Amino acid sequence: MSAGLPVLDFRSDTVTRPGQAMRKVMAEAEVGDDVFEEDPTVNRLEDRVAELFGREKALFVPSGTMANLIAIAVHCRRGDEVLLERRTHSFVHEAAGAAALFGIQLTPLDNPEGMLGPAQVQAAVRPDDIHEPRTRLVVVENTANLSGGRVVPLARLQQLRRLAREKELRLHMDGARVWNAAAASGTPLSAYAAEVDSLMACLSKGLGCPVGSLIVGDRAFVAEARRLRKMLGGGMRQAGVLAACGLYALDHHLERLSEDHALAAELAQELRRSLDGRHRVQEPETNILLVHTDGLSTTHETLRRLEGAGILALALSDTTIRLVTHLDLPRDAAREAGRRLGPPPGR
Ligand SMILES: Cc1ncc(COP(=O)(O)O)c(C=O)c1O
Repeated sequence: MSAGLPVLDFRSDTVTRPGQAMRKVMAEAEVGDDVFEEDPTVNRLEDRVAELFGREKALFVPSGTMANLIAIAVHCRRGDEVLLERRTHSFVHEAAGAAALFGIQLTPLDNPEGMLGPAQVQAAVRPDDIHEPRTRLVVVENTANLSGGRVVPLARLQQLRRLAREKELRLHMDGARVWNAAAASGTPLSAYAAEVDSLMACLSKGLGCPVGSLIVGDRAFVAEARRLRKMLGGGMRQAGVLAACGLYALDHHLERLSEDHALAAELAQELRRSLDGRHRVQEPETNILLVHTDGLSTTHETLRRLEGAGILALALSDTTIRLVTHLDLPRDAAREAGRRLGPPPGR
């Protein structure tokens, strides 16, 4: 690591730490036993999030992974099948929970855009045949993290919704970063939520909270989700100390997300100046920036070079490096990164 320089941590928007103001609302939160549904701060957060998304109910859960798992398990029975794009978090990074714990098959489909299209979903839906699993659910991730924080257009979602209705499928949105999708596209959160049977949104990413996600849907769905949350050990007691962060973040960190998007765009420009022709910097749509390289050795070399300049990034694959902007970065982080890196080596 580069001696003396403050680290610019672009690994993820989950690395943010609660600041003094957020810690103060945690300390002062009114609490009760949330398993008895008696925590007033959790109840306020759930009501507020349900209203923001224009749906009947919301449920506070410890993590995005648990939120997705619960949603999948509510929608599906054992032996059912879920269709999702291959780079979807539930397929790649949730430890096969749906299969391991609930006997649900996740079937990945490839799409170069990183988000499912209606034609490929239509082609993948199984016939009613005793040899095959029942296709029950489609999961759409918005923004699509591993595809570079891409926003799923509302029109695409509407097409998937129409198809889902026709084929009697359910539709779940992994909206870990749906806040970013809404900020970037101007699509209201409620417009996204109106097209899906359920949705989850994370507080612990761009909104800068230490813990927590919400599952949103109609009353019956959320009642069942509450039961599964308990089954999975996710029933929390005085969780108001965490929910208070969520309420604070909705007041103070939602409106500013476009600053993270602008910073990612600026970082893309700086990296284009500092990296050589073995790299392709993908234009970010939100707060996630991908750099594609020509191979593993370039990826390693570039990560080492970044780290030497006190810049942290993550390798997503042999040929992809991810950088994410967030609340805890200084506003001049992109310029500073460019200054530290300078032009490509050897020029
Ligand atoms: C798109 C997406 N979905 C779900 C999750 C899971 O969230 P958590 O880390 O809170 O389990 C993540 C986490 O990075 C994510 O990026």
